[in-house]
Amino acid sequence: MATRAINIGLSDREREGSIGLLNMALSNAYLLLIKTKKYHWDVVGPQFMTLHKLWEEHYQTLSLSVDEYAERIRMLGGYPVGTAAGFLAYSTLTEDPGDILGATEMVTRLVDDHEEIIRGLRSAIDACTDEFHDAGNADFFTAQMEQHESMAWMLRSFIEGESVQSNGQIPSSTAVGIPAGV
Ligand SMILES: [Fe+2]
Repeated sequence: MATRAINIGLSDREREGSIGLLNMALSNAYLLLIKTKKYHWDVVGPQFMTLHKLWEEHYQTLSLSVDEYAERIRMLGGYPVGTAAGFLAYSTLTEDPGDILGATEMVTRLVDDHEEIIRGLRSAIDACTDEFHDAGNADFFTAQMEQHESMAWMLRSFIEGESVQSNGQIPSSTAVGIPAGV
């Protein structure tokens, strides 16, 4: 199949660099999508309905992300990973097969995964800017990172609620940036 050369001001090396980062991000989003849906199914306890609904919303957000990653890869002339084996190979996340966890542990693991993804996207943004000359991809990754920051905050808030001490104080390790007198 003949393909037309892509002439958008990026070298082949730069496009391939961005495509590699996009396939890693796509694979991470796909694994997190699977883990989020599994917890949506498995969760029990007093927070059942809250977490069940929240994880359905996060699943929908991640479904859109996966599609956006794949389509951006095509925009740059690449091909997205599209097999379960491929997602596992390209992802920096790990799966937890066989575990049926308590709700708090589910939330904790998802926070860890979102934070891993945020750190990866932050590095990817720097690489797109400094190494691959791809401002569009840096901007795209930034928007994705902000979505993960929002989802991580929502999940983290569950755990932090449990770490308030009996005297009503928040442990200092979590109380960063509280304005004086508040
Ligand atoms: Fe459902």
